[in-house]
Amino acid sequence: MKKIIGSALIAGSLFTGNAMGQNYKDFTVQTDHVKAEIQPTMWGIFFEDINFAADGGIYAELVKNRSFEFYTPLMGWEEKKSEDNASYITVMNRSSKDSANPRYAQIKLDAEKEAFTLTNEGFRGMGLKEGLSYSFSLNARTLKGAPVTLHIELLSHDNKVVGKTSLKLDSPHWDKFTASLKSTVTDPKGKLRLSFEGKSTVDIDMVSMFPSDTWKNRPNGLRADLIQKLADLNPGFLRFPGGCIVEGRELATRYQWKKTVGNLEDRKVQINRWNTEFDHRPTHDYFQSFGVGFFEYFQLSEDLNAEPLPILSCGMACQFNTGELVPMDQLDPYIQDALDLIEFANGDVSTPWGKLRKEMGHPAPFDLKYIGVGNEQWGPQYIERYKVFAKAIKEKYPEIIIVSGTGPFPDGKEFDYAAEELKKLDAEIVDEHYYRNPEWFLENADRYDNYDRSGPKIFAGEYAAQSVAIASPDNKNNWQCALSEAAFMTGLERNADVVHLSSYAPLFAHAEGWQWTPDLIWFDNLNSYATPNYYVQQLFSTNKGTQVVEIGYASNEPVTGQEELYASAVLDEKNNQLILKIVNSSSKDATKTVRLEGDTKTTGKGSITVLKSEALGRVNSFDNPENIHPTTEEANFRGKKLTINLPAYSLTVVKINLKESNL
Ligand code: AHR
Repeated sequence: MKKIIGSALIAGSLFTGNAMGQNYKDFTVQTDHVKAEIQPTMWGIFFEDINFAADGGIYAELVKNRSFEFYTPLMGWEEKKSEDNASYITVMNRSSKDSANPRYAQIKLDAEKEAFTLTNEGFRGMGLKEGLSYSFSLNARTLKGAPVTLHIELLSHDNKVVGKTSLKLDSPHWDKFTASLKSTVTDPKGKLRLSFEGKSTVDIDMVSMFPSDTWKNRPNGLRADLIQKLADLNPGFLRFPGGCIVEGRELATRYQWKKTVGNLEDRKVQINRWNTEFDHRPTHDYFQSFGVGFFEYFQLSEDLNAEPLPILSCGMACQFNTGELVPMDQLDPYIQDALDLIEFANGDVSTPWGKLRKEMGHPAPFDLKYIGVGNEQWGPQYIERYKVFAKAIKEKYPEIIIVSGTGPFPDGKEFDYAAEELKKLDAEIVDEHYYRNPEWFLENADRYDNYDRSGPKIFAGEYAAQSVAIASPDNKNNWQCALSEAAFMTGLERNADVVHLSSYAPLFAHAEGWQWTPDLIWFDNLNSYATPNYYVQQLFSTNKGTQVVEIGYASNEPVTGQEELYASAVLDEKNNQLILKIVNSSSKDATKTVRLEGDTKTTGKGSITVLKSEALGRVNSFDNPENIHPTTEEANFRGKKLTINLPAYSLTVVKINLKESNL
């Protein structure tokens, strides 16, 4: 193990040259001076159900409004009935018996007439794949068990039947009926048609259809192609369920994890807070079925080998909306939710919440280590609530690390207040959010270089460069934004002794159902593409390393924009490599000599990966998903003086293989 030297970087002008175009000296890498250990959580992912990221996104359910609980009960469904109304549908409400899923549909059939049909449009269509099986199910009962034949048909976008099967519904009590059918075509805009025939009345609920190719082939599963993109990021943590969705527009619609676990039927559907947030992107059909709930998020974290990081409501609704506060003397249920969540994740199966986890199929604990109190709260109201949460959590679970927050902005009065108060309270990890223009990201590559090392650790919890303005619908995931994020990330990495976690936000956007842009991954009902920002994230997270070493101009001057270059360096103990990340934000190619100092010996082999575009406005798209993508070449390095070409507007990752004895 190398010696860890002081973490505060020496600021000064020991490099020769200046920003006026004079020549700077070579870079040196102090290969045997370890500045900091890199946390396994350094690069993670932020998941929020925004932009149809859950329902219509990673959740592979194809039926929209499966339990008729949207505000408009038949939204997403189209009925076709006989003109004289001999067969018809009504919406029933059994709230006295089932408050989580009160509604069901009742169809009265007239056997003399043609079948009554209901067609579900899916989430801007249903993605159908040629040759793939689909698992259909519904809960149903018929009047006195009088049989009803249900014809189940997959339709193409132009209403051709492309798959079919049928079921006999004949139970006088609620029962689950299942069937499987195959699609003969690939169509991103498919539909599901149900035709009911018989002389009876049939009640239906929880009408569902999943593709068979879900992630790990799980029932109630996730879309495998989208989850694979997450797995390919090798994330250190998964933050869920957001974002502002944690807070709710008002307290009543905050995210309540207990309503998202257990049987699907018992998870109460609720309006998604992004349904009405932006006038420029209204999405009247955006609800939360909670088919992906807290159990599924924990399971996904485990699948991804990422630490689960749940964020909970602290009794404050979104301060951009109603800003409702729960009175301090009524905070107990919120705190109990936090304590019970820890029991759900980690508790023995003999505890009530541990038992539920077991019943849901996971007797082993999820090994939860972190919990977030509030999302983007600000002001003294947050601090006073945080204090009560922190006390209660630490009293019962001293080992749990609490994540607190500094609000929506990375500077200003509210930020300064929260940062100061949280420091006084010895907060462990503080979440900071940066939605700023690309210039801000370049200018802030040194944000943590002189950060107070005695204060809380940092979770760079939400960041994304905004090409136009924060949350503007015209923002693009262009190369300028991605490159500026890369420059900023060299600063996060250089300061890994204080920055313990970081994540780009938001993560996903449905091409037709989004509200917020930019986003890391864009998808439609069948396909997805990674943005340049995704590739930046991936190059950092898959080249995370284990220890930070210094790269800079002679005598440790960090590279934070001089010559329009930004750099960081890490050792990777697992793979015995030295890894350099260098951003050239200038319009000109550069060549840099990098001197390796210290005892380290290289094998002379390695690789160079470049992510670049000569046009800053360039983007990836469904038609051109790899317009900007990394390319890797093997490289030979002779001796300890390396010459590295740094193309204009590029992120270059240099991997140098070290001799075994070095680490
Ligand atoms: O990432 C989108 C939103 O930005 C998040 O919900 C919120 O935390 C932030 O304001």
